[in-house]
Amino acid sequence: MTVLRIAAPLAVALLLASPAAAEGDAARGKAKAEQCFGCHGETGNSTMPNIPSLAQQPAAYTFFQLFLFREKLRNVPTMTPFVEGRSDQDLEDFAAYFAGQKLEPDPEPRDDVRFQRGAELSQRLRCASCHGAGYVGQAQMARLAGQREDYTLMALEQYQKNERTGIDTNMTAVIYGLPAADLAALAHYMAQQK
Ligand code: HEC
Ligand code: HEC
Repeated sequence: MTVLRIAAPLAVALLLASPAAAEGDAARGKAKAEQCFGCHGETGNSTMPNIPSLAQQPAAYTFFQLFLFREKLRNVPTMTPFVEGRSDQDLEDFAAYFAGQKLEPDPEPRDDVRFQRGAELSQRLRCASCHGAGYVGQAQMARLAGQREDYTLMALEQYQKNERTGIDTNMTAVIYGLPAADLAALAHYMAQQK
């Protein structure tokens, strides 16, 4: 069972990440992050399809995702070489650096029909109850506002197909059974948020 398989490593993750781990240091993070910039942008503003922006993500969210990449719980071959062998402190430092950068969204033109549909769905499914008012993220829950639309859509599709289990199974449950057009509407709506 997926839940049980994930539960044990996650308990370890939470222990490691809890009070014992030191605070991230943004300046140190920047110095170590040079090899990230080619894909994610120097200020964490991605200009590349399907590559997420990291600017203004809650540090806890970024830390947990880097941890999941390192432990291959979020198994993305593109990302693995950049986190392999990194200490928890390195991951905290990356997270602190990108959390302190300013997100400069560059959304596609707004499509009123998809925007409206996305607004209705996000109300009904209560996306803000976890992702925060204005969808700016909180704790280990991602900022969605202003994220690249293509990346957000890809992420939603991964959750729906159970290809991304995440720190818990909340996301797969929330969007269970939604048709592809609704996932696209949600991604469009979130990308338009400031
Ligand atoms: C060769 C391109 C590339 C490089 C270099 C790279 N990444 Fe990534 N990164 C990606 C891709 C692609 C994804 C999305 C993977 C997916 O979900 O399929 C990603 C995802 C992430 C995420 C998850 C963001 C989210 O919203 O869930 C974080 C955090 C991240 N990268 C941090 C880093 C850091 C820190 C470095 C440098 C140490 C780095 N990346 C280097 C391509 C890259
Ligand atoms: C019960 C809490 C909860 C609700 C409600 C919720 N989410 Fe999430 N969401 C999470 C958590 C926790 C994560 C991080 C999971 C992980 O580790 O992959 C997440 C991650 C995401 C991501 C990945 C972000 C990234 O940068 O990779 C997207 C996209 C997303 N949620 C969209 C939505 C949308 C759209 C809704 C409403 C339809 C929604 N979420 C409702 C908890 C929630």
